[in-house]
Amino acid sequence: MDTLEEINLKGFVEEKIDPTLDLFEEIEKLKKEKNAVILAHYYQEPDIQDIADYIGDSLGLSQQAAKTDADIIVFAGVHFMAETAKILSPNKKVLLPDVKAGCSLADSCPPHLFRKFKESYPDHLVITYVNCTAELKALSDIVCTSSNAVAIVESLPKDQKIIFGPDKNLGAYVAKKTGRDLVLWNGACMVHEIFSREKITKLKERYPNAKLIAHPECEDVILKMADYIGSTTGLLKYATKSPEKEFIVATESGIIHQMQKDNPGKVFIPAPPNNNCACNDCPHMKRNTLEKLYLCIKNESPEITVPQHIIERAVKPIERMLEISARLGL
Ligand code: 13P
Ligand code: SF4
Repeated sequence: MDTLEEINLKGFVEEKIDPTLDLFEEIEKLKKEKNAVILAHYYQEPDIQDIADYIGDSLGLSQQAAKTDADIIVFAGVHFMAETAKILSPNKKVLLPDVKAGCSLADSCPPHLFRKFKESYPDHLVITYVNCTAELKALSDIVCTSSNAVAIVESLPKDQKIIFGPDKNLGAYVAKKTGRDLVLWNGACMVHEIFSREKITKLKERYPNAKLIAHPECEDVILKMADYIGSTTGLLKYATKSPEKEFIVATESGIIHQMQKDNPGKVFIPAPPNNNCACNDCPHMKRNTLEKLYLCIKNESPEITVPQHIIERAVKPIERMLEISARLGL
């Protein structure tokens, strides 16, 4: 058995699991015993989505993390999400099934470089997309998610100068929707950047009635083709409310599990990327498995911690986002 340090370095415990165990049952038992809650993002594997207490997009998950009365939050998502939960609930134990579940978008914005970038625009307000490190949030004025970015920018006076980071695609989308001139950081998500316009065009020819629904982290060429643009929750709601029966889904393919569950009579086709794969998985999100989730709740590790001085600064822009969202009923 590894020491705790070794467990944290590897990101998960290489502990053998009794193959006769029913992991769903065991996780349920541990959850009750430890007063733990499982929060999962839509990009998690189907088994994790099915055992979660709450599944949602980044905004919904932050709102849940802020209000839960559980002692332990098991965050089935990626590192920045678990960090956000820790910042909002610093007295709770926050666990991440695989500590190496990172994010290419968060990695595309190193805080020391962003600090310099920010110094070049001293009269600008800094809005950062939640997909960034805790340190970056500590350098921000307001955090946003894909479901409230447009509303948050619109809630500010028209002449307010704004830096938006780290996602240039979401930033460009928000600039277009609001008519504001945002200063953008040049970051992007490895999953949403590689959808193929050519392959989607061919799919649309094969399924002429299908609606293309896309996440705003996609490039503008894809967003221009889309019938609807929204966060993962937005895409799910649109597909559920729409009278249409077929949808081409331009975001990480994990969301299709929930779309299919909620809409058994409809067809969801993953938008193809520009490589040899048929659909687009986030390698970070998919590091978490049901086995790692079980070990993580059983061993209460890996635990996510954030230095106190970062928590104190990062909590303000996140709370500002939650306040604006609550005021606007988001
Ligand atoms: P939302 O769930 O907020 O739409 O974000 C998608 C995403 O990329 C999370 O990493
Ligand atoms: Fe990060 Fe993109 Fe994965 Fe979301 S899908 S966690 S933005 S790499």
